[in-house]
Amino acid sequence: MTQSTEQDRVLIFDTTLRDGEQSPGATMTLEEKLEIARMLDEMGVDIIEAGFPIASEGDFEAVSRIARQTRNAVVCGLARANPADIDRAWEAVQHAQRPRIHTFIGTSPTHREITQLDMDRMAERIYETVSHARNLCDNVQWSPMDATRTETDYLLRVCEIAIAAGATTINIPDTVGYTAPRESADIIRMLRDKVPGAQDVIWATHCHNDLGMATANSLAAVEAGARQVECTINGLGERAGNTALEEVVMALRVRNDIMPYRTGVDSRKIMQISRRVAAVSGFQVQYNKAIVGKNAFAHESGIHQDGMLKNAETFEIMRPEDVGLTETNLVMGKHSGRAALRAKLKDLGFELGDNQLKDVFVRFKALADRKKEVYDDDLIALMADSTSAG
Ligand code: KIV
Ligand code: ZN
Repeated sequence: MTQSTEQDRVLIFDTTLRDGEQSPGATMTLEEKLEIARMLDEMGVDIIEAGFPIASEGDFEAVSRIARQTRNAVVCGLARANPADIDRAWEAVQHAQRPRIHTFIGTSPTHREITQLDMDRMAERIYETVSHARNLCDNVQWSPMDATRTETDYLLRVCEIAIAAGATTINIPDTVGYTAPRESADIIRMLRDKVPGAQDVIWATHCHNDLGMATANSLAAVEAGARQVECTINGLGERAGNTALEEVVMALRVRNDIMPYRTGVDSRKIMQISRRVAAVSGFQVQYNKAIVGKNAFAHESGIHQDGMLKNAETFEIMRPEDVGLTETNLVMGKHSGRAALRAKLKDLGFELGDNQLKDVFVRFKALADRKKEVYDDDLIALMADSTSAG
């Protein structure tokens, strides 16, 4: 079981291989999925949602192989609310050391219209399918898809039914990224206060980033009592993506003073897995993406570079090594100042006196005006020119 008795422990549920892979064009091969799952397990993720076993033979195979290879994390397979899906998910995860079945149904008015189930018939379906899953597996997660657009009374009712049928985790999805932090917290608080049996289950939050609020909404849910955050590496996922794992982990770490919760994730492994997921999914990370973007620890302006050289805390709230980078990147460009140039040249093996630096700095600025970024090789060439010029 994943149930943690510690009040401050937040479980990290990674769905890169399921919700993340649903991103159009992000399909990964079996070998790539096995590799990512191994990395997730090694970095301390609590639950790996490995796929949707009934979706295809390939998905089934990937989930079964991940179930067999995973040493620490719970391995979860997704299933719609019908016995065939649930049986197939169980078939795929049953060999995991810690298997979980995750079953869901859309509970909002729009989804009830699509499935043509009225409130009562849907409630029955939930009871039957969660009971069915629970007869197979003692770790069952249930999600009312589009929960944030489901009528409050009905959401209360279906959560109560799922708990009565044996669900051990209740996940509240903001399927279309519609909620906002205060509402996200209010929903979790209300469910925990009012649903009979609420204290016996783990409440989870699953947010999408359509309005750019997925991380904020997830953290608000945690403050209201959610103890499982569902997320993906690099925020990969359909449309604007899911909550980014690296943002949740680092926010809880850096602002532990005001959000006193902890995860089991080794943040030093973040950069490596971020790069791997970008490579295998083909979804490049935007330069200014929080935590893992190329520029997240890069400084070009003279004032910033000077401050960084004197004290890294001037412009950085976390240490690059905490996310697995070796050092801050002082990018040399037209905004760079003399102090940064001196430090960079020293790194490259050139110790310059004041007069020599003055001369090289003028030539560096002229070069930086012509080029967007001045690389180490450019500086070495510049130095070669200035030594040969005497
Ligand atoms: O966003 C969503 O509602 C989902 C569910 C399947 C949990 O991904
Ligand atoms: Zn989702």
